[in-house]
Amino acid sequence: MGRIIAIANQKGGVGKTTTAINLSACLAEAGKKVLVIDLDPQGNTTSGLGIDKNTMTNTIYELILGECTVRESIHKTGIEHLMLIPSNVNLAGAEIELLGASNKEYIVKNEIDYVQEDFEFIIIDCPPSLNMLTINAMTTANTVLVPIQCEYYALEGLSQLIHTINLVQKRLNPDLILEGVVFTMYDARTNLSLQVVENVKNNLDTMIYKTIIPRNIRLAEAPSHGKPINLYDGKSAGAESYRLLAKEVIERKAV
Ligand SMILES: Nc1ncnc2c1ncn2[C@@H]1O[C@H](COP(=O)(O)OP(=O)(O)OP(=O)(O)O)[C@@H](O)[C@H]1O
Ligand SMILES: [Mg+2]
Repeated sequence: MGRIIAIANQKGGVGKTTTAINLSACLAEAGKKVLVIDLDPQGNTTSGLGIDKNTMTNTIYELILGECTVRESIHKTGIEHLMLIPSNVNLAGAEIELLGASNKEYIVKNEIDYVQEDFEFIIIDCPPSLNMLTINAMTTANTVLVPIQCEYYALEGLSQLIHTINLVQKRLNPDLILEGVVFTMYDARTNLSLQVVENVKNNLDTMIYKTIIPRNIRLAEAPSHGKPINLYDGKSAGAESYRLLAKEVIERKAV
């Protein structure tokens, strides 16, 4: 059975998509069969993997509406072992359509159930909101991985996120656990990054990945080339850090 990890934080721009793309690609590089699900209408995971989101049909939107099957929604990325359920701006409308649906919290889960056995890891990129799409990610997932940007307001909103995870666990998905947090955009030249890491460690009673993702220009450039970091610049500090994170994630499988 594949392990399903939702990458969530309702704060915008903290590195969710960068982590979804590059963790998935590094898991695939390690030989794991990976499916990445883009659950954000911004479609940044889709375009970051070099797929033209605007011409795509059979995206997560059609899947949610029941207009295609889950297998039809799974697309090749051109990267070995890495498949994608893409997204685009149409998904923004699905939120409203979901509200009227019965079992609206489980639409994605009920579809992914059919293919979970085909993959070793399923990574879900969430939108920057605690909306019905994020709830669908959390009912589908086994664990939630929370990227935290090393900046002054890092802790803001985290208690709300943890509260939501606890609520979903209580009411909708009793097996859901908080996988842990991963620090992103760490800048070794500033004291602030270090202070944020220390502050979160002192205030958050949760697993923290040993791997810290540095601020690295190559990570910011890679999406415009439609490539994950390991293919764009495999020797960069960003590539090395996401490989280490993938290794840690694989090792945690036993937990
Ligand atoms: N480690 C990093 N080093 C340098 N730039 C980074 C790093 N991680 C992310 N970025 C850049 O920061 C911006 C925000 O990152 P990203 O899109 O991954 O965040 P997000 O949480 O998915 O955002 P949103 O909430 O809008 O979905 C992007 O321009 C990305 O290229
Ligand atoms: Mg994103």
